[in-house]
Amino acid sequence: MSTHQVKLADSGQTFSVNEDETILTAALRQGVVLPYSCRNGTCGSCRGELVEGQIGYPYNPPAALKAQEQEDGHILLCQAVPQGDVTIKARELDAVGDIPVRMLPTRVKTKEQLASSVVRLHLSLPKGQRLQFLAGQYVDILLQGGRRRSFSLASAPHEEEHLELHVRHVQGGDFTGYVFDEMPERTILRLEGPLGTFFVREDSPRPMLMMGGGTGFAPLKAMVEHLINSGNTRPIHLFWGTRTAEELYMDNLPKQWAEQYDWFQYTAVLSEPETSTDWNGETGFVHEALVRAYPELAGFDVYMSGPPIMINSARDRFAEAGLPMNQLYYDSFDFTPDPGDVKIKTEKVPVVQ
Ligand code: FES
Repeated sequence: MSTHQVKLADSGQTFSVNEDETILTAALRQGVVLPYSCRNGTCGSCRGELVEGQIGYPYNPPAALKAQEQEDGHILLCQAVPQGDVTIKARELDAVGDIPVRMLPTRVKTKEQLASSVVRLHLSLPKGQRLQFLAGQYVDILLQGGRRRSFSLASAPHEEEHLELHVRHVQGGDFTGYVFDEMPERTILRLEGPLGTFFVREDSPRPMLMMGGGTGFAPLKAMVEHLINSGNTRPIHLFWGTRTAEELYMDNLPKQWAEQYDWFQYTAVLSEPETSTDWNGETGFVHEALVRAYPELAGFDVYMSGPPIMINSARDRFAEAGLPMNQLYYDSFDFTPDPGDVKIKTEKVPVVQ
């Protein structure tokens, strides 16, 4: 397969594009974040300029560009396929602040019980819509009365067709109770996102340690899947802590990554191992297990996601183990119950099935 090089005129950054691949798809695959939305040539969000070389539009015509704009060298990166090496001008997003926060209706495509206290939701986006985000970010589900509930996106950005959320059941009759007990598939949920600054710093050369507590596994799953998709070789050791073995609700997935990729290691840690008759893995607090394995943390980037108590204890412990605080990235979430009726804001919109 022949490949071409794309050079970004402003930064000098280059990336390769496969035969028949659009510039945008190639950029996102390699961790270069460029603005986009519809990905079918109609919205104009991905507009750039061709400085040198030739491109073609084998898929959709660049409907968002006027004829004069095309003559002036404007191109749509979601449709443009290079016909040789090219140099382009495009706005590079190197911070989450550059990614627009949007409100979108989504349809619950599937609801799947992964453990007694965790369900996985797959959400479909409206036809022609995509949510641009960085792996690790979260969205808010908007409820009536201005209330909202935050959930990490458990799917990686390249899985464009759906969004995945892991919802933990919190006792107390709140939104998660509704999701567990009542919400049927095909329900429309309104969400706002992407939010948060928890994402992988891909320009760092350091090996990564990841630590999740409970459904804190969700954004780490998105990160690892994104890194796999972009050809990662940086070492990652994931520690996943839960109370019981049953709460390791997707244990087979990180085990499978560990078998498939020599740069990936996985350790599960139970804080209540007595609940599992045949557990012979790590026990205790997950952050203590991490420090037992890595007593000196100065050379690592650490990503952690979980409840505040885990985050706070870990932050202090990791600092003692020599981790510079600018190498620690985390997402802390609360399971605070929200008693009372939960009403979902609904609206009639066309949504992809
Ligand atoms: Fe909408 Fe390219 S992303 S035109």
